Amino acid sequence: MTLDFSAIVPYLHMLLTGAKVTIQASFLSVLFGALLGIFVGALRVVPLAPVRSIAATYIYIIRGTPLLIQLFLIYFGLPSLGLNLPAFTAGIIGLSINSSGYVGEIVRGGIEAVPKGQWEASKVLGLSYLKTMRFIILPQAIRNMLPAIGNEFVTLIKESSLLSTLAITELTMVGQQVRSVTYASFETFIVVGIIYLVLTSVTSFSLQYVEKKWKVS
Ligand code: ARG
Repeated sequence: MTLDFSAIVPYLHMLLTGAKVTIQASFLSVLFGALLGIFVGALRVVPLAPVRSIAATYIYIIRGTPLLIQLFLIYFGLPSLGLNLPAFTAGIIGLSINSSGYVGEIVRGGIEAVPKGQWEASKVLGLSYLKTMRFIILPQAIRNMLPAIGNEFVTLIKESSLLSTLAITELTMVGQQVRSVTYASFETFIVVGIIYLVLTSVTSFSLQYVEKKWKVS
């Protein structure tokens, strides 16, 4: 067996364009997923049992079903309710909802890690539950959560390869296209894998750098 990468060189720019779509999709999904996840995670700790159960059920369902099925439900399922979403939109919604389930648990952990004394002190100061949550607890919790949310970004870069099943031309989909015209399957997916590795490495190194800076300051 010999590997011949020359066949895919003319298609490298296509792969890089696909990588750009992968980055866009992961970035948007980690952003919306974190916003939704912070909301769900906050509901997970409110002093109202029914609300807590609803949030817990949401997280349970999201984490207990495959992302692929969630994407199919949104893209292929929702049209039966008259909701036809463009593939990219459906993909971002699916990835964001999926991510929110995981971020929800990160947030709950982050909130529960804030010392109880903070709640008691706020109560003494006469702050309401919402004000305490918004101004005292969440700012500290979010700082605790940032590393885990950074990891979620890296996870989404990899998970976004499932968007290829919705024919979104992200890196994996473009890889399939390049493979089908060059027949250089091994070479194509070696290069695709390397590009993913570069994306995840650059992301996690940058996040580590930012974290270190924050710890110092
Ligand atoms: N591969 C998992 C699945 O199919 C998705 C995991 C997503 N993880 C995450 N942290 N967003 O269900």
